Amino acid sequence: MSAREADNLLVLGIETSCDETAAAVVRGEGVGGGGGCTVLSSIIASQHDLHAEYRGVVPEIASRAHAERITPIVSEAIRAAGVSLRDIDAVAVGNRPGLIGSLLVGVSAAKALAWSLGKPLIGVDHVQAHLIAGLLSASPSARLTTRHAPLAASLGLVVSGGHTALYLVDERFRLSRLGGTIDDAIGEAFDKVATILGLPFPGGPMVDRLAQRGHDRRFDFPVSRAGGPFDFSFSGLKTSVLYAVRGVPGARDAKPLTLDDQTVADVCASFQRAAVTAIVRRLDAAADAHPHCRRVLTGGGVTANSRLRTDLAAWGARRGLDLLLPPMDYCLDNAAMIAALGHFELEARNWTSDPLTMSASPSSHAP
Ligand code: KG4
Ligand code: ZN
Repeated sequence: MSAREADNLLVLGIETSCDETAAAVVRGEGVGGGGGCTVLSSIIASQHDLHAEYRGVVPEIASRAHAERITPIVSEAIRAAGVSLRDIDAVAVGNRPGLIGSLLVGVSAAKALAWSLGKPLIGVDHVQAHLIAGLLSASPSARLTTRHAPLAASLGLVVSGGHTALYLVDERFRLSRLGGTIDDAIGEAFDKVATILGLPFPGGPMVDRLAQRGHDRRFDFPVSRAGGPFDFSFSGLKTSVLYAVRGVPGARDAKPLTLDDQTVADVCASFQRAAVTAIVRRLDAAADAHPHCRRVLTGGGVTANSRLRTDLAAWGARRGLDLLLPPMDYCLDNAAMIAALGHFELEARNWTSDPLTMSASPSSHAP
C-alpha cells in the first residue's frame, strides 16, 4: 500500500503495560513523511483504586484487571470514534517494555482482533510512544493532530513512574539512549515522597498540587549528580526527604517533623524543586553535547507536573530550542500515543504486519 493510499486509514491502539487499560482510534492523514494522524477517541480505565492499599502496582492484580476490562474498553473506543470494528485498518499494541503479565493481555487482544479482521498487527515500544505524544497538539475540535512533520533530529526526555531517560531521536524516529536513572524513576520518587507524607497513591499529582502553596527553599534537598553526565538518581533525594520528615536514625537530636499543612506543602515544594532541577540540568548537558538537535520531545506521566512544565518551557526558550510537551491528556499512559506510533511505523514499512507469533517483552528493544 502506498503512503497516499494510507490517508484516512484507521488504527486501533491498545495499551496495557502497567496499570491503565486503554484503547484509542486514530485516523491517518498522510502528512508526508511525518505520520500525521488525528485522534478520534482515547479511552483509559485506571486501576489506581485497586492498587491504592498496597501503595504500588501489584502485577498480578494488574493483569487480572486488564483481562476483565480490555473487551469493554476496546468497544468503548470504537463507539466513541463513531466507527465500527469492521472499519479498522490496523491494530497497534504496546508490547514492550512493561509488566509482562499486563502486556500479554493487550498483545493477546490485539492479535485476536488483527487475525479476525484480517488486518495488519504492529507491536510498538511504550517509551517511544511517550515521545510521540509530544508531537500531538490540541486542535480546536479537541481532537489531536501531529505537528512539526516531517521529523527532525531531536533530544528525547521520558519521565514517568517506570522510566526516566534521555535519548537521541533520529529523523526516522529511532531512539538511542544517552542515559537514564541508576535507581528510582522520577515518578516513583514522587509516589514514595507522597507515601512518606501520608498522601494517597499515586501521589505525584497531589505532591504537585500541594507544592503550589509551599516554599521550595525551606528544605535544602540535594540535586543529584550521581552516575554519568546524562544519568539520573532519585533514591538519595527520597532518603533526604525521609530523614527530614522522620529524623535521621541514630542522631541524638533526631525528632520527626510536625506535619502541619504548611510543612507538608513546603516538603512537597522543596522536593519538587530538587527533582525538577536534576532533570533540567541533565537535559542541559545533553543539549550542550548535541547542538545539532534543535528540538526536544518529552513524554511520560511526570510531564503533567506543573513545575516541570514551567521550568522546561523556560529552559527551552532560554536556549532557543523547540521544546514539545504533550497535551495534559496524553502525558500519562494512554493508547492514542500507541496508535499514533503504530500509524507512523506502519506507513514507514508499507503496512507490513508483524507475525501473529509476536510476543511481549518486559524490556525495551531500544539500545
Ligand atoms: O507515564 P505513566 O502513566 O506510567 C508509566 O509509564 O510509568 O506515569 C505515571 C507516573 C506516576 O508515578 C505518577 O505519580 C506520575 O506519573 N505523575 C506525576 C504527576 N501526574 C502523574 N508526577 C508529578 N506530578 C504530576 N502532576
Ligand atoms: Zn508510561
